[in-house]
Amino acid sequence: MARRTFIAGNWKMNTTLDEAVALAGGVVEAVKGVSDVEVAICVPYISLQAVSQVIKGTNVKLGAQDVHWEASGAYTGKISTSMLKSVGVTYVIIGHSEQRQYFGETDESVNKKTKATLATGLLPILCIGETLAEREGGKMDSVLETQLRGGYAGISKEDALKITIAYEPVWAIGTGKTATSQQANDAHVFIRKVLASIYDEQTAQAIVIQYGGSMKPDNAKELLAQPDVDGGLIGGAALKADSFKGIVIPN
Ligand code: 13P
Repeated sequence: MARRTFIAGNWKMNTTLDEAVALAGGVVEAVKGVSDVEVAICVPYISLQAVSQVIKGTNVKLGAQDVHWEASGAYTGKISTSMLKSVGVTYVIIGHSEQRQYFGETDESVNKKTKATLATGLLPILCIGETLAEREGGKMDSVLETQLRGGYAGISKEDALKITIAYEPVWAIGTGKTATSQQANDAHVFIRKVLASIYDEQTAQAIVIQYGGSMKPDNAKELLAQPDVDGGLIGGAALKADSFKGIVIPN
């Protein structure tokens, strides 16, 4: 089964409501008519509803940047999967390295969020990636394997196929330091190997794996040309419709 290219913008903690509406409108315009690439924008919670109206009926899907695993209750400040669904969300980023680094995200919480997201019929984008120290210390494979086994614990094969993986080496995020296309592809091949050992080869080959970390119009083409790189999770370059377009439609 051929894997479809999937480019998602992660706006992180950027854009006010007005700015989000304007940027979403720009993205809709920029990727109009694109049918061979799945396109999503993952916007701040407070702009989800408005952006959902802007992209209604277009080829741009809506994503959130995190979620809580409980269905409802006394969890001040948290947002549930059904709340996200009610405003038209399709994708949910889970386990981003910034969540792991700054807000105590663990493989266990990633797993709970992933299960809750799937149970509501939404699609997780599960982020994994090693730090520079881990890579240089020869621990990259074991770090990725631990994150994958933890994130996928107790998840059926059928559900695993609904999860997109974003491989984001922490040292490449927001640093301008992109992984080489070879480094990205090698990591993706390794990720597929772990997925094959958790599930089977066919499942591993069907799962979409995005690369994330300083992907920009001028390096997207080469990264996306790698056989195991199926798309991108884009931070900085997703904050301008033009540069996001340059990744969705690299020339
Ligand atoms: P940058 O594209 O800004 O490096 O961010 C990548 C990222 O973290 C996307 O989730």
